[in-house]
Amino acid sequence: MLKGKKVLLGISASIAAYKSILLARLLVKEGAEVKVIMTPAAKDFVSPLVLSTLTGNTVLVDIFSEDSWANHVMLGRWADVMLVAPLSCNTLAKMAHGQCDNLLLAVYLSSTCPIAIAPAMDADMWHHPATQKNIRALKEYGHVLIDVEHGELASGLVGEGRMAEPENILFFLKEKFFRQDTLKNKKALVTAGPTYEPVDPVRFVGNHSSGKMGFALAEALYENGADVTVVSGPVHQQTKYKGIKIVNVNTAEEMYNACLQLHEAMDIEIMAAAVADYKPASVATEKIKKTENNFMLNLTKTNDILATLGAKKKSQFLIGFALETNNEKQHALDKLKKKNADMIVLNSLKDANAGFGHDTNKVSVFLANGSHVETGLASKKDIAKKIVELVIEKMHA
Ligand code: CTP
Repeated sequence: MLKGKKVLLGISASIAAYKSILLARLLVKEGAEVKVIMTPAAKDFVSPLVLSTLTGNTVLVDIFSEDSWANHVMLGRWADVMLVAPLSCNTLAKMAHGQCDNLLLAVYLSSTCPIAIAPAMDADMWHHPATQKNIRALKEYGHVLIDVEHGELASGLVGEGRMAEPENILFFLKEKFFRQDTLKNKKALVTAGPTYEPVDPVRFVGNHSSGKMGFALAEALYENGADVTVVSGPVHQQTKYKGIKIVNVNTAEEMYNACLQLHEAMDIEIMAAAVADYKPASVATEKIKKTENNFMLNLTKTNDILATLGAKKKSQFLIGFALETNNEKQHALDKLKKKNADMIVLNSLKDANAGFGHDTNKVSVFLANGSHVETGLASKKDIAKKIVELVIEKMHA
């Protein structure tokens, strides 16, 4: 998502500077080109050598070094975004008042790109009226604040003032500055995870779905600009994108009701959840005791969400999943037709490292026009991107 994007990372003197190493690494891993500028005092906290090795670019500290002059104007114009992380109390005050006694400040004052700041300081410093006034000043200049987090501080105290964790900063930047607009104004619904069908107050019938594929699809849609809602069964999965709406459900019936309520406004619907096909016909009000040697559980069919949305669909692009162990292609094609979907994504349990619980997957995608696409084994995130690319291609065809 950050491929080819240019990020200027400013590091000022705070103990949180050690987190900037990981931040630089994450940005580079996402494909960004990263140039680092440090204040002279920041060198006491983290070595420029580490950062230049990770980013592949010389770390700049001084405006004048030996007989050369760092072109601060061009640096500020080069970047797509300038991020100051950590932003110390001292550098914050200087930025608020337009002071210019080091390279980082000179670049900041001459930059034309958006500026994001991730402050880091002790709780009392953070809450001081002077600091809050300076933060307000930077917000008035149009800069974006990546808020401090609550937790243990370098002083040993616990409170607000920790710099946001590198992964949170990465997602914040992606969300704020780098979403595509391919699916702008499109609404997307994704179901994810398993459903739990209660047997009695302490037991349920469920399955091993982790929700990873559904959440990866939701993030890929969101990165392309869609307005995304995930209807999720019980999972440990989360997204760091604050704009993705999550509706938590437990049972197939709850998932069915939530999807039906959302359906009409949707443009894209991806049914990635492993919905229970059957649920206990009745739920015992008390815990079932172990009295008999054999115990029969009477199950009844749940509503098929995909088929219901398929029957109701108008302009929605509808995608279903199929998990098969035999006659895979034929079963997938039958589901595509029977459920009136536009696309079926087939998982095979026969493929090692694919399917439930794994971080990787391998799928075959069947389209209503008879064509089909195979993906090799790849991360669920990459598979999700590929599926969303296909959706975009088909929707714009
Ligand atoms: N699905 C659904 N509602 C259900 C059951 C399944 O929306 N009650 C959706 C799943 O989210 C998936 C697709 O239907 O997108 C296929 O699910 P799968 O379990 O493979 O197929 P079934 O239709 O349940 O058929 P079978 O179990 O017989 O293979």
